[in-house]
Amino acid sequence: TSKQRLLVVANRLPVSAVRHGEDSWQLEMSVGGLVTALLGVKEFDTRWIGWAGVNVPDEIGQKALAKALDEKLMQRCIPVFLDEEVVHQYYNGYCNNILWPLFHYIGLPQEDRLATTRSFQSQFDAYKKANQLFADVVNEHYEEGDVVWCHDYHLMFLPKCLKERNSKMKVGWFLHTPFPSSEIHRMLPSRLELLRSVLAADLVGFHTYDYARHFVSACTRILGLEGTPEGVEDQGKLTRIAAFPVGIDSERFIKALELPEVQDHMKVLKQRFAGRKVMLGVDRLDMIKGIPQKILAFEKFLEENPNWCNKVVLLQIAVPTRTDVPEYQKLTSQVHEIVGRINGRFGSLTAVPIHHLDRSLDFHELCALYAVTDVALVTSLRDGMNLVSYEYVACQESKKGVLILSEFAGAAQSLGAGAILVNPWNVTEVASSIGYALNMPADEREKRHHHNFKHVISHTAQEWAATFVSELNVTIVEAQLRT
Ligand code: UDP
Ligand code: G6P
Repeated sequence: TSKQRLLVVANRLPVSAVRHGEDSWQLEMSVGGLVTALLGVKEFDTRWIGWAGVNVPDEIGQKALAKALDEKLMQRCIPVFLDEEVVHQYYNGYCNNILWPLFHYIGLPQEDRLATTRSFQSQFDAYKKANQLFADVVNEHYEEGDVVWCHDYHLMFLPKCLKERNSKMKVGWFLHTPFPSSEIHRMLPSRLELLRSVLAADLVGFHTYDYARHFVSACTRILGLEGTPEGVEDQGKLTRIAAFPVGIDSERFIKALELPEVQDHMKVLKQRFAGRKVMLGVDRLDMIKGIPQKILAFEKFLEENPNWCNKVVLLQIAVPTRTDVPEYQKLTSQVHEIVGRINGRFGSLTAVPIHHLDRSLDFHELCALYAVTDVALVTSLRDGMNLVSYEYVACQESKKGVLILSEFAGAAQSLGAGAILVNPWNVTEVASSIGYALNMPADEREKRHHHNFKHVISHTAQEWAATFVSELNVTIVEAQLRT
């Protein structure tokens, strides 16, 4: 039998393009949990529709890029072209300055509040326009029977655009971020329209049961619709709502550890940090990741445990992200300032306590780091799931390092039994957890690791996608039976 065709639609393609000439492109892996999760989706005949991260105003460039993307991957990539102004208003503006902070409980932009309020409508218009551009590309590639799976907060308008044109299309939508309490969602000027357009989908998925519950109560309180155990009902039409916690392609990580290049990286890292324990942070440089909070907790730990000063290092990989958004620029300088201050305070002629890198790593370097470090420190203030914590666990079979994990990450609900859970706002608690992790006896480490490892290898990205798509198919059959 042939594989089910699946159109994955997400703002971000798995590769981002860098232009080298009129018709020459270099493709780089994109960074982020959404891409990692979707790369694990293998049992479908998949087309991936999304934005390549660049503005391509000319037709020659567009054609060359479309060709390069088509040839590059097993999952074929189809680019959506967005012009500079749309990217500015839709991606930098509405998505990353409004929806992202709101969904992570940071609230709406505070500064220059009036200007924000006024630009709000034009940003929302650009958002709708961008979603329509994605819909146009979907329609161009759609074949009857395809499953169309829309992803994330960038594309909340897409289900509606697709269904208006073709009510028979099988449409699912999945959110990779938290969905906040309805008290937070209420603040959005476009609260009604966004909920209504998501409800046009047949199946709506979230990482956790709590996010799903928040979404249902937003629909009941804000739209006045009826919530049922199955989902939300509007004049006899049911939109099914459920939790589908994502995972990683754990095999890919476990196998990578055997590769000679990964082993080489591991050797170098072990030599470099010989005699010291290494704590690892891997995050996009985003305010939701609690990087300043993490570093301040580490400072407090050093302050209270001077005997550890030359024996431990915090290695923080901070991947630059959304660098055109002012809040992200501010965060970068804030983090640099704190790191500089602490290194000045606790450093010696030969060593500093914090190694901070503003860059991404390639897959092999990242696996090596996950494998050789003693403690991973995830301090997200809010995080849809957090796949870095899963990846760390997958790579720790031989070392059995400790995971310190924020209770505000979705992953806390699945890895809570093995991790040390912390409230990242409580610097005292995080500092003492660092001490606890560094001193943890081997048998406790082993027990905790085992717990988490079992979960990570049995809840994979493959299984996540298969479950979502089969649930979507079932939902549609059931809907047909009802009418
Ligand atoms: N990542 C990467 N290169 C890096 C650092 C991180 O590809 O240099 C990946 C990492 O492996 C993980 C993803 O970025 O899969 C981050 O996902 P997560 O869910 O932790 O957070 P998000 O970035 O989606 O908020
Ligand atoms: C999060 C979002 C993804 C996004 C990723 C990277 O994981 O849920 O949708 O792709 O961050 O952010 P970026 O803005 O670079 O796509």
